[in-house]
Amino acid sequence: MRIKSKWFVVLMVVLLSMALVVSGCGGDKKADDKTIKMGVIAPLTGDVKTFGESTVNAVKLALEQANYKAGDFTIELVQADDRNDATEAMNVATKLISQDRVNVLVGSVTSKTTIPVSKMANESKVVMLTGTATNEKVTVEDGKRKDYVFRACFIDPFQGKVGAKFALDNLKKKTAAVLYDQGNDYTIGLANNFKASFEAGGGQVTDFLAYSKDDVDFSAVLTNIAKKNPDVLYLPDYYQKVSLIGKQAREKGIKAVFIGGDGWDSPELDYKTMEGSYFTNHYSADDPSPQVKKFVDDYKAKYGKVPDALAALAYDATLLELNAIKTANSKDADAIKTAMQNTKDFQTVSGKITFDKDGNPIKAATLLQIKDGKQTFVATVTP
Ligand code: PHE
Repeated sequence: MRIKSKWFVVLMVVLLSMALVVSGCGGDKKADDKTIKMGVIAPLTGDVKTFGESTVNAVKLALEQANYKAGDFTIELVQADDRNDATEAMNVATKLISQDRVNVLVGSVTSKTTIPVSKMANESKVVMLTGTATNEKVTVEDGKRKDYVFRACFIDPFQGKVGAKFALDNLKKKTAAVLYDQGNDYTIGLANNFKASFEAGGGQVTDFLAYSKDDVDFSAVLTNIAKKNPDVLYLPDYYQKVSLIGKQAREKGIKAVFIGGDGWDSPELDYKTMEGSYFTNHYSADDPSPQVKKFVDDYKAKYGKVPDALAALAYDATLLELNAIKTANSKDADAIKTAMQNTKDFQTVSGKITFDKDGNPIKAATLLQIKDGKQTFVATVTP
């Protein structure tokens, strides 16, 4: 009797679990058809962690405002930290694509992590859109377009040119030194593009010098630069490194005006050292346009701070993905990719988006100055 009842219980448990599994599977399958997994990759720790924080904040704000819906689909967010490290970015992308089976990706944030990840996403046929990675190689590498990859920002040939032209035409500067990280595609690209445009416009580049990612003492290169006394010191790196170099340059007596790129945009830039400097960026929070005003107000209400360009572009990237999913009305990667490529005049915070054949939007750049310890709008430059 005892044995019998034990087997009875086991049988019941087995039957019950089978029933649960069957109904559970059925239920899940139905929900699954209408659920899209969106992976977001961002540097939440490491040397540019403010970039990652802004990005994830803005993705969540955009999803919340859309009620985690795109047309008939429910969006499920899966986030990952790449620490602004290319190897780690590949690890987390592998996990998101193979294990979590995300349908679309937002990210990553910097070019050096986004270039390798974009290759993997493209080969795996996962539509990916970075808000912020500006290096050309993100969407086109070795002359080949990565069809599943898009971005919401302008590219560095334009950004470098805007910085150079501003130095020549507006600031009337004639000579410039350039200092860049030789292991980072973003800073190499910007340095080259700035140099080419500065020289093409009649300027002279007095020094074009490189350092390594882990360098903290720049006295040797700065001594060389100081001897030439250039009008401009172009610093195309992220906020931590730029703050460090800027400080040491001033200590060496370098009087040049500092000019840089979007990588400066962080509340953790050394605003005191960088006072008077200029940098190219994607948007200004002071822009009075209704879409910027609404975004800034919403972001401030939720997070208690003014959104930077990283936040604006991650918000835009999320809107673009939601729109492509809705337009495709499908989970199919090719349908989403085609809908994305066909995006026309889609209004985002940082401008109206239409993609060129390379998945890049044609957009204006914003010039900002660090003035009285704050970012101040100077000009908008259209391509
Ligand atoms: N453009 C930078 C890169 O490609 C990332 C960045 C964008 C940083 C916007 C700050 C603001 O690495």
